[in-house]
Amino acid sequence: MRPEPMDPAVSAVLADYEARAEREQEIWSRRSADENLRRRDEMLLPVGRAAGMLMNLLIKEGEARRILEVGSSYGYSTTWLAEAARTIGGKVISLELQGAKTQYAYTQLERAALADFVEFRVDDALASLRQLPGPFDFVLIDLWKDLYVPVFELLHHKLSPGAIVVADNMLFPEEFRAEARAYRQRVRAAAGMSSVLLAVGNGLEVSRYQ
Ligand SMILES: C[S@@+](CC[C@H](N)C(=O)[O-])C[C@H]1O[C@@H](n2cnc3c(N)ncnc32)[C@H](O)[C@@H]1O
Repeated sequence: MRPEPMDPAVSAVLADYEARAEREQEIWSRRSADENLRRRDEMLLPVGRAAGMLMNLLIKEGEARRILEVGSSYGYSTTWLAEAARTIGGKVISLELQGAKTQYAYTQLERAALADFVEFRVDDALASLRQLPGPFDFVLIDLWKDLYVPVFELLHHKLSPGAIVVADNMLFPEEFRAEARAYRQRVRAAAGMSSVLLAVGNGLEVSRYQ
């Protein structure tokens, strides 16, 4: 499938995020692991362009209208999800703990004329998930890595038939390999899930509920 040309307003917002991510990547590589951990809330920590594009295509192809994002950060992945939602008449619910990040994300989505397609919830994602009834057709899990399994436990029974769940950071950063492995084991053991690890971006586990 050939991707459709992107709306210039969306392209401009994505380009700004990607320029910031490139600068942050350089800073990240110079700092110690401890300092990176301490200052992680200053960084976008985005899924990256290949993962963003893949999710955008999956949503459009599958007409996955009820989209959930767990960990919006400053809104890079949200932009890719929202662009797909707009194309197919869907909506994104995006969960994030830090209100300042959500504020930034909202401003960028307004610039891209995508704000109407996203509902942000600022709270602990586990608390938000307990309240959200679902069902969800597409989910991105991309919050702190020790929470992937608890998030999946709350989500599993809220997936629609054919729903896709994408989990980021399965391969990189390497220090999260143990948490990533625990998530993959859990999702692969869950009833009705088929799952594959893709070396796209930071490593994506792409799982389908049937
Ligand atoms: C890796 S970043 C998300 C990057 C984003 N998906 C992107 O591609 O631009 C992880 C985010 O999860 C958020 N987070 C961590 N724990 C959370 C929790 N318990 N509830 C909600 N958000 C949480 C962090 O504040 C951080 O912004």
